[in-house]
Amino acid sequence: MLKTHNCGELTLKNAGDSVTLAGWVNRRRDHGGLIFIDLRDREGLTQIVFDPERAKEVHTLAGDLRSEYVIQVTGEVTKRPEGTENTNLPTGEIELNVNKLEILNTSKVPPFYINKESDVDEFLRLQYRYLDLRRPHMQYNMILRHRVIKFMRDFLSDRGFIEIETPILLKSTPEGARDYLVPSRLYPGQFYALPQSPQQLKQLLMVAGFEKYFQIARCFRDEDQRADRQPEFTQLDLEMSFVDEEDILSLMEQMFIEMIETLTPSFKINKPFPRYTYKEVVRRFGTDKPDIRFGMEFADFSDLFDDTEFGVFKSVLASGGHIKGICAPGSADYTRKQQDELIEFVKTYGAKGLVTLAIGETDDDVKSRVLKFLTAEQIKQMITRLDAKAGDLILVVADSPKVVNNALSGLRTEMAKRLNLTDPDELKFCYITDFPLFDRIEEENRWDSMHHPFTAPHDEDISLLDTDPGKVRARHYDFVCNGCELSSGSIRIHQPEMQKKIFNLLGYTDDQIKERFGHLIEAFEYGAPPHGGIAPGIDRFVMLLCKEETIREVIPFPKTQSATDPMTGSPSPVPPELLHDLRLKVEEEKKAKE
Ligand code: AMO
Ligand code: AMP
Repeated sequence: MLKTHNCGELTLKNAGDSVTLAGWVNRRRDHGGLIFIDLRDREGLTQIVFDPERAKEVHTLAGDLRSEYVIQVTGEVTKRPEGTENTNLPTGEIELNVNKLEILNTSKVPPFYINKESDVDEFLRLQYRYLDLRRPHMQYNMILRHRVIKFMRDFLSDRGFIEIETPILLKSTPEGARDYLVPSRLYPGQFYALPQSPQQLKQLLMVAGFEKYFQIARCFRDEDQRADRQPEFTQLDLEMSFVDEEDILSLMEQMFIEMIETLTPSFKINKPFPRYTYKEVVRRFGTDKPDIRFGMEFADFSDLFDDTEFGVFKSVLASGGHIKGICAPGSADYTRKQQDELIEFVKTYGAKGLVTLAIGETDDDVKSRVLKFLTAEQIKQMITRLDAKAGDLILVVADSPKVVNNALSGLRTEMAKRLNLTDPDELKFCYITDFPLFDRIEEENRWDSMHHPFTAPHDEDISLLDTDPGKVRARHYDFVCNGCELSSGSIRIHQPEMQKKIFNLLGYTDDQIKERFGHLIEAFEYGAPPHGGIAPGIDRFVMLLCKEETIREVIPFPKTQSATDPMTGSPSPVPPELLHDLRLKVEEEKKAKE
């Protein structure tokens, strides 16, 4: 090694030792004759001192040093003079008096500060990601990510799980997104698909008799990017045979609690994780990924307005819609302008408006723009159902159930943010169970899988498959933390007939089933064991542990929001010869637009 110690480890115990350090020039200060440099490596900072009295030539050479130069220094560890110690640094009591300096490499002036946090445009950060990653805060994120993955590997290996890799060049595996395709050179006109998840392969590994499998699996999905979505991301993918829901849920609960308590013990976590059915969370929070760090639960007011003269509510009820509300504590003093902002906010979710009721000291001291349409009894009921207090602001949306849920749950999160209702040191998990098996796509008059087509229905709901598919509950579970969907899984179908039936209900013809999923159905004909699994998203979990707002902060080389990589410039055109080999032709943009 070019160093005897790292930059985070020297203390008074080393005083008098001769040591060699190597790293980057973090900061340099010239104090008259003395040159001070904070030398940085992955483990920390050490102050090094160039004293012309001690080594004249070395001191002169040190005059050339600039930020991010890479150097190797040898010298003597000494106690810092009284009053110059830095108690914020583990190495703050010592400094290194340099006898020998070697400049291992120079550096251009970096496009942004590496030695201090500053607001840098994300595109620039991604263009120079190798410099961005050099920053201590990004190093922390990457190292924590490594520790999370190591913990998962150790935890599962200790419990008899086997890590098995599955192919990246595969066939389409539906998880609800668009596939990334790879053209085959040997079979022109034919394509591999990158896996949206290893779902089918892990099930085949259960048929193969491995019983407990896991993989740190890369998944590829061509979909619109968001703060918590990337085109490629990483799952802890796992599958077990001879299990029911409880086995998977309790294993994951134990793993996540132990992991957080070991790796980031300063977080408060709720244990055991509460469990809600899908029906219950949608009723109480309007979403299947509720943030349960705060209350503000929904109340349904639809029944209060059967005979209303308020046109908005009347027409919504007549067309089968709902009227629901939440209560924002202490917000009765919201100005007209602030209320208008909230109206604009709910409109982004497709709501047509928002009724507000500011609650005063008494039941008849209520302010609302639509007060004249509301009876005293309606107001009293709304206050009671929401347990609203003087000074609170009731927020009501009337619309189709879907719009009401989306708009009000968005508003609930927004108000919690404005009111500072969440504690950044708290992680609150919950399990959601009993999702519907199918989702209705009205515009296309068809059913879609809520999770994926391999999820088993509840035994007692099987007869409903023929009569009322929308009512069938799935053996599907999710877990959610602080309003972020961290993980999905299910007990799977393992009988070929049931699997075919589900594909048929989803609208696949027998030929399509054979072409796309024949391998899986056939595998089930050779003694497939009952099995189930789950796949926590590692990027999202590490994002929460690092208290970051996007998963791009915890992925070493992520894509931008528009799915590009500014560092390498991908995606990019390829030379015509390559296209020729693949027998591909790219339509010119003009033609493509026609
Ligand atoms: P699902 O599609 O719900 O389930 O994905 C599981 C978890 O993966 C994470 N995730 C993502 N993270 C970042 N970017 C994305 N684009 C993205 N999409 C999903 C989420 C999510 O909860 N095969 C099933 C699992 C199973 O049934 O075992 C699956 O992939 O945290
Ligand atoms: P309008 O009749 O459109 O002027 O609306 C009267 C009030 O009702 C305004 O404060 C609107 O924001 C509100 N409002 C309109 N549509 C809805 C709706 N679908 N749900 C809740 N409030 C609404």
